[in-house]
Amino acid sequence: MPFSISSTTPAPRSHRRTRSRHASVGGRMLRGCAFVMILSGAAFSQMASTPPSLVRPAGITDTYLDARVESLLQSMTVEEKVGQLVQYSAGQPTGPGTGRTDYEDMIAHGQIGSLFNVIDPHEINKYQKIAMEKARLHVPILFGLDVIHGFKTEFPIPLGLASTWDPSIVEKASRVAAMEASADGIRWTFSPMVDIARDARWGRIAEGAGEDPFLGSAMAAAYVRGYQGSHLDSPDSIAACAKHFVGYGAAEGGRDYNSTEISEHTLRQSYLPPFHAAVEAGAASLMSAFNSLNAVPSSANPFTLKQVLRKEWGFRGLVVSDWNAVGELIPHGVAADGAAAARKAFLAGVDMDMVSSLYHDNLQQIVSSGQATQAELDEAVRHVLRVKFALGLFEHPFVDESAAPKALYHPDSIALAQTAAERSFVLLKNANGSNGKPLLPIPTAALNIAVIGPLGDDSSYPTGAPAGAGPRVSLPAALAQRVGEGHVSRFKGCGILDGTDDEIASAVAGAQKADVVILTLGESPEMSGEAASRAHLGLPGRQQELLEAIVRTGKPVVLILFSGRPLTVPWAFDHVPAVIAAWLPGTSGGPALARTLFGDVNPSGKLVVSWPRSVGQEPLYYNSLNTGRPPYETDLAHPPADIASRYVSRYIDEQNTPQFPFGYGASYTNYTYGNTTVSLPRLSAAALNRSLNAGTDAAALTAEVEVTNTGSRSGLEVVQLYIQLQGTSVAEPVRMLKGFQTIAIAPGEAKKVKFELKPEAFAIWNQRNEFAAEPAKLKVWISPDSAHGSPAQAEILP
Ligand code: NOJ
Repeated sequence: MPFSISSTTPAPRSHRRTRSRHASVGGRMLRGCAFVMILSGAAFSQMASTPPSLVRPAGITDTYLDARVESLLQSMTVEEKVGQLVQYSAGQPTGPGTGRTDYEDMIAHGQIGSLFNVIDPHEINKYQKIAMEKARLHVPILFGLDVIHGFKTEFPIPLGLASTWDPSIVEKASRVAAMEASADGIRWTFSPMVDIARDARWGRIAEGAGEDPFLGSAMAAAYVRGYQGSHLDSPDSIAACAKHFVGYGAAEGGRDYNSTEISEHTLRQSYLPPFHAAVEAGAASLMSAFNSLNAVPSSANPFTLKQVLRKEWGFRGLVVSDWNAVGELIPHGVAADGAAAARKAFLAGVDMDMVSSLYHDNLQQIVSSGQATQAELDEAVRHVLRVKFALGLFEHPFVDESAAPKALYHPDSIALAQTAAERSFVLLKNANGSNGKPLLPIPTAALNIAVIGPLGDDSSYPTGAPAGAGPRVSLPAALAQRVGEGHVSRFKGCGILDGTDDEIASAVAGAQKADVVILTLGESPEMSGEAASRAHLGLPGRQQELLEAIVRTGKPVVLILFSGRPLTVPWAFDHVPAVIAAWLPGTSGGPALARTLFGDVNPSGKLVVSWPRSVGQEPLYYNSLNTGRPPYETDLAHPPADIASRYVSRYIDEQNTPQFPFGYGASYTNYTYGNTTVSLPRLSAAALNRSLNAGTDAAALTAEVEVTNTGSRSGLEVVQLYIQLQGTSVAEPVRMLKGFQTIAIAPGEAKKVKFELKPEAFAIWNQRNEFAAEPAKLKVWISPDSAHGSPAQAEILP
C-alpha cells in the first residue's frame, strides 16, 4: 500500500485548556473563571509531553530565543519597532492598500517587517540584501505567500485533502509544499485555513476541511506539523498561519466577507477548536479575519485575540491581519478614520498590519500620544521577532537561487500528489449498468471512451502553478495511455459558463459512437475560493443541458464533478448511474482519475461536508441541534397526511436530509457494520471532570464494532465514531464526531475496530461556557457515515 493506515486517530487537543502551560512559559499569572482551575492540570501534562515547535527550534532553548529577542528590542527605535509590524504585498495581486512602491527605501530605513507575493528567489534576495546590509539593525524580512495546497506540485484543494480523512496525507502534502516554497525563499505560508464551513454557497469552503470541528482540528494540526517540520529553523520549514480568526466561515447567506453572529457556546464548541488545535501543534502565526463577529470586527476583537488566544491559549506567535482588514474597520463602522482603525486593531491584538499602511502611518503617534503603551508595542514586536529568530532567518536570511528548480516537482512529490488525489475522490453513486453490474470500474479492454465536458484537461486543474506547468497529464491523456489513443475521443460539449448548440450536437454525436462516456462537468477553479460565493449551486452555463442530452443517448455515463464545493445536481443523481466528486484534484488529478475509473484504485474518500439537495437547505450540517420539533423525514411525493406532521421543523417543498450525509462515500466493494458495543454502561461526570482536571489521558470508554468486507475487492474504509448526549445544560448536536480510523480490509475479511474515548470526548461547553462533563444519556455509533448505524446506549451519571 502506498500510504500509511492510521490505527487510532489521535484526538485533537482542541478542547484542552492550556493556560497553565503558558503561564509557565511566559511567566504570566492568569486569573479567571472556574474552568481554568478545573482543567489546568490537563494542560500541564500536555505541555510536558509535547513542547510546541515554535519556541523550540533545534538547539535553541526558550530562554536563549527570548534573550535574543529582548536584546534586539532594546536597541530598536520606535520607528524600527513599528516597521516590524508592517507588511506589504510586493507582487500580484494588487488591491486596496497596495499603493506603495518604495519598498526598497522603506526596508533600508527599517520600516518593513514582512513582504509577500514575491515568488522570484532573486527578487527575494534583492530585498533581503537591503534589509541585511543597508538597514541599521539588519533584521531580516519575513517573506510570505498563500501556499494553500502545494507550492508548485499541486495537491487537491484542502476540501479534497480533507476528504481523505487521513491527517498523515495532509501532513506529507504540506511537508512537500514547505520544501518547495522554502527552496524559493518563502518561509511563511498563509495556511491552513481552518474555518468551519457549514454553507456550500461560501466559496472558501474549498479552502478548508469542511463542517466538523473534530476532523477540522485533526487536519489543522496535520498542516502545521507538515509546514513547520520538526524544527522551525530547518531551512525547509515554513511558518504556518492558521486563518481566519475567527468565525469567517459563518458568513451570513454564504456571502464572502459578510457579518457573522455566533454565540459564545457555538464559537467555543465549533469554530474555535481547529484554531486551538493549530496553536497546540505549535503554529507560528494566526491571521485575524475580515468578518465582524457579533458586531465586533474580528480584526479589532479583544475577546478573541486577547482573552481567548493570548490569555486562555497562551499563544506566543504572531497575529497578522487579513488583507487591509485594519483599513476595513472604517467601512465596518467601528473606526472613523485610519488612525482610529490602527489604534483599535493594535489594541485588540493584531500585531502585523497586512498592506493597509495604517500602522506605518499612525502607530508611532499612537504610542507617543500614550494611546498605546511602549510595553504594548514591545509585546507585538516580540511576537514578530520570535518567529523570525525561530525560523533561523537571522542566521540564514538568503535563499540559494539555484536550489528551487531541484526542489520542485520531485517524482516523490508527484507520486504523493497522485495518492492524495486518489484518496480524495468521493464515489457518490455507482448503480448497475445494462449487464446488471455496477458501472464502475470500467473495463480497459475493447472500449471506446468519449470524454465530454469543459473540465478535465490539464489547464482545468486548480490554480497555483500556471496551467500546464510541471508534469501534468490531463484526464483524456491518462485514459489514452491505458487504452490507446485511438480509443479515446474528446468533446468539449460546452464551456463552463457558455456553449453553442453545435458544441452540444457534436458531443452527442461523439457519445453515440462510444461505449462509455466520461462526463467532466462542474466549476472552474475561479468559481470557488475567495470572493466566489454562489447563490445557485447547480451546474453553471449550459452544462445541465449538455448532461441531459448525453444521458438521452442511452450510453453508460460516468459523471465526474470538478468543483470547490458540493453542487446541487439532483437530476444527475437520479439519472446518471455513476458519479464521482473529484473536487479540484491538482497536478496528478488526470492519472489519479484514470486509475480510479479503471479500478486500480478503490475509492475511499468520504464527504467532509453535507451535500445539499437544494440551495434552500443551506446552511446544512450534520451536527445540528434537534429543535423541539424534529422532522419526520418526508417523502416529498407523499407529504404527511395528518395536520400535526406539518408543524415540525421542515420545509413544505424539500426534504430535510442532505443528498449525501457528512461522512458518506461509496466504494467498489461493500462493507457491513455489526452492532456498536461499549466497555461500560455507566460513566461518572465527576470522575470524567477529575480526569480532565488531572490531565489524565487514559481512555474513559472504549467502543468497538466489527466491519466486514462483503464484496469482492480490497478496500480502505473510513470508520467513524459519533456520540450524542441528552439531558445536558445546553442542547447538544444530534451527533458529534469523536473518532475516525481508516482500515484496510480484504474481501471476505471481518475486522474489529476499536476506539478509545478520552474524558474530553464527553465534555461540552456548558451553560456557563465552562468545558466540563455533565450527566446525560449517551449514545455511541460506530458507522460508515453520520446518518447510519444503530447506537450503543450508556449513561453519564452525576
Ligand atoms: C486575503 C485572504 O482572505 C487571505 O486568506 C489571504 O491569505 C490574504 N488575502 C493574502 O493573500
